[in-house]
Amino acid sequence: MQFHDILVIGGGLAGMRAAIEAAAGGAEVALLSKVHPLRSHSGAAQGGINAALANNPDSHDDTPEKHGFDTIKGSDFLADQAAAITMTADAPRVIFEMEHWGCPFSRTPDGKIAQRPFGGAGYPRTCYGADKTGQYLLHTLYEQTIRFGTKYYEEWMVLQLAIDEQGICKGVVALNIADGAIEMIGANAVVFGTGGAGRMYGNTTNAHISTALSIAIPYWSGIPLKDMEFIQFHPTGLYKSNILMTEGCRGEGGYLINSEGERFMKRYVSEKVMELAPRDITSRSITTEIEEGRGIENAYVYLDLRHLGKDKIMERLPGIREICLDFAGIDPVNSPIPVNPSMHYTMGGIDTNVDGETRSPGFYAAGECACVSVHGANRLGGNSLLDTIVFGRRAGAVAAKYAKSLPKAADEKTLNKANKALQERVAAFSNPGGTENPYKIKDELQKTMPMKAGIYRTERELNEGLAKIRELKERFKNIRPAAPSRVFNMDRVWIMELAGNLDISEIVADGALRRQESRGAHSRRDFKERDDANWLKHTVVTYSPEGPQFDYSQVDIHKYQPVERKY
Ligand code: FUM
Repeated sequence: MQFHDILVIGGGLAGMRAAIEAAAGGAEVALLSKVHPLRSHSGAAQGGINAALANNPDSHDDTPEKHGFDTIKGSDFLADQAAAITMTADAPRVIFEMEHWGCPFSRTPDGKIAQRPFGGAGYPRTCYGADKTGQYLLHTLYEQTIRFGTKYYEEWMVLQLAIDEQGICKGVVALNIADGAIEMIGANAVVFGTGGAGRMYGNTTNAHISTALSIAIPYWSGIPLKDMEFIQFHPTGLYKSNILMTEGCRGEGGYLINSEGERFMKRYVSEKVMELAPRDITSRSITTEIEEGRGIENAYVYLDLRHLGKDKIMERLPGIREICLDFAGIDPVNSPIPVNPSMHYTMGGIDTNVDGETRSPGFYAAGECACVSVHGANRLGGNSLLDTIVFGRRAGAVAAKYAKSLPKAADEKTLNKANKALQERVAAFSNPGGTENPYKIKDELQKTMPMKAGIYRTERELNEGLAKIRELKERFKNIRPAAPSRVFNMDRVWIMELAGNLDISEIVADGALRRQESRGAHSRRDFKERDDANWLKHTVVTYSPEGPQFDYSQVDIHKYQPVERKY
């Protein structure tokens, strides 16, 4: 049985940053990831990372405090304010650290880190490396993990947490995808940096690896989830494939155009803000244009970059041009890009504090899988990369301190018990006579979520969605068994992922049904207003065999009283 001081799960930015800090703190660290770390979904982040550096002439009086306020306002006042301020205060330091580690940020003419405007920010404060910022950050951190001698479990997948009778995390049970072995790995601390859960939805910008299983695993072990009903739709997913067309396109001056050739955002926000409204508002505006008959083919609008000119597109948005050429057969230098809102981000996740601590000692989470909460009901573009690095680092530091205080020995009893629990869970959906096709269930779920728990929501649709999800969960109990091969058996992997997607989708839809107001990305046609009197609270969901148990917790609003959110 393997044992590590710290076992980090997830090779994206949050996981790697946690691993680096834990190693710097003197802990022995291993990192387990479903894919090679450089293929993590963090690498798909394009447009940038926020920090109030005041490098752009238009942002000379920007400050971390203003960044904090914009984040809180953008969250529709559901962010915990001390947490948001912690993140924005640390942002400049984080950027300089990444710069010193060699991250190739784009530069201003005088050599400073370049910054572009993003939605919902009062200033150009998004630092970027062309439109490949996530890739650059990922490579930078990977080099550091190598420097610190991190042991990697590549192409391994966690299936179960090992939690002892006192609720303390003692390691995981994981699948080695390459040879099909299921193994117990003991650890004094486990840090989840497992990313988002976009693949509950069919129309997502997320990679196929970004499923809800990694949130479901702690949930099934009794660790609460927070604010799962808040699902972000990115305004500009490439029509049909839903590949991200970065907000940087609009930050560089791109327009949104309807079928009448009109820059329609003026109908929804001030002329000063236009295409750079926060994502919830921009996604709703696009949806309204399409619903009212001003979409193209009743399905999309245009993101128009043509007026930027070839040189600027090639310098600032080369990846966007490549994606458009490869996946849509158009060149944005001379054609507008067809886009529609695509599921992009889960604001909710594993309930943590600012140090990544959860209800279970020894179990930590950071990045998109966690809910600190800094994004509240709506995340600002560019704050996700920042969240991963700020809170990954903090979780790694605290986990290392904790892990080093304990004896270096695997708790075999707890790990064996977890292994047994996993076998029982798997047996429950491994009926040898099962007939349901898991891919059909997956497909039906991915069609249900955008239609019934999408950008606009109603009681009727959410009830229909919930009924469908529950029907799919019943059918899942009778799925045909996974193909028998052990070696790289992706059938087996996808069936496990589906189990997580089903349970977490139920929580998304149920939480949305219960929340009778509109706030940030949660927009109810039947409860159009934000209702602070009744709903300025976090949703907290805990697993029970009878189904998810819903509760609510206080939002920290110690600094800024909620006001109407005008842009
Ligand atoms: O549009 C983008 O480049 C995405 C950034 C983000 O989600 O923060």
